[in-house]
Amino acid sequence: MNIKKLMELSQKPQLFERNKTLFWDDPHISKKMLEAHLNPDWDAASRKMSTIDKSVEWLNEDVFSKKDIKVLDLGCGPGLYASRLAKLSYSITGIDYSQRSINYAQKEATENNLDIKYIYQNYLTIDFEAEFDVIMLIFCDFGALTNEERDILLKKIYKALKPGGIFVFDVFTDRNRDKDVLSRSWEITEDGFWNEKPYLALTETFLYPEDDTLLDQTIVMTEDGETKIYRLFNHFYTKATITNVLDEFGFKDHSYYSDVTGKRYSKKSKTLAVVTRK
Ligand SMILES: C[S@@+](CC[C@H](N)C(=O)[O-])C[C@H]1O[C@@H](n2cnc3c(N)ncnc32)[C@H](O)[C@@H]1O
Repeated sequence: MNIKKLMELSQKPQLFERNKTLFWDDPHISKKMLEAHLNPDWDAASRKMSTIDKSVEWLNEDVFSKKDIKVLDLGCGPGLYASRLAKLSYSITGIDYSQRSINYAQKEATENNLDIKYIYQNYLTIDFEAEFDVIMLIFCDFGALTNEERDILLKKIYKALKPGGIFVFDVFTDRNRDKDVLSRSWEITEDGFWNEKPYLALTETFLYPEDDTLLDQTIVMTEDGETKIYRLFNHFYTKATITNVLDEFGFKDHSYYSDVTGKRYSKKSKTLAVVTRK
């Protein structure tokens, strides 16, 4: 084990300093991720199934205005929302850049006779014009974007929405800023999330207080000397900061909730869900 290299790797990186290591589309990680998505009781890759059911009920009853609308689900994962919404007769397109999740979602749709269009694509490259009544981005992926990526995506979403169309999404709030989230942990395992080989993983959370961003950094070392580093950044927002961003891109009539089940907005909530309009 090269301790000097390990010490270098474990330093706090620059804000949003990413590397090229595959994460969502890594063959092993995406397999473990799919298991996490599909575990009904985990709030990990997707929310628990009971929460997803409540979200879909809220979207169907309180957010979507009518049935004959076109919905685009960005970062749809294995289609847990898309399939439920399709069963309620909405016309759905799902986009994700995990090939494994898209394959699973497509297979499920075919087996259940659901007419859903799934696309394997980076959602930062979408190019639709006035095509959707609703665009959704669920489970706080908005915060994983740099400010530049966020701005690109908001422009693309605005363009892709029909006039009056809505964008529904959620973010982590500044309630995640507490010092107690700044943890360090390690894991040694033969059959873990990060690698198909036995590994030692060192995880540390860093806070970038000036940019309202948290980083979960994991260094994964296998016996053969291979070392990989995974960095998951997430920018958190307040009602005020997200409002400024949405105003800047022309969105209007923002409504705020504590989460995507439509729970009443509270300053104390760790998540904030927003419904906003073109
Ligand atoms: C936390 S999961 C949430 C999945 C789904 N929205 C849910 O709540 O069940 C994030 C998903 O977004 C996808 N994703 C992340 N960044 C993406 C991008 N730039 N383009 C397309 N998909 C992306 C990942 O592959 C993953 O399936």
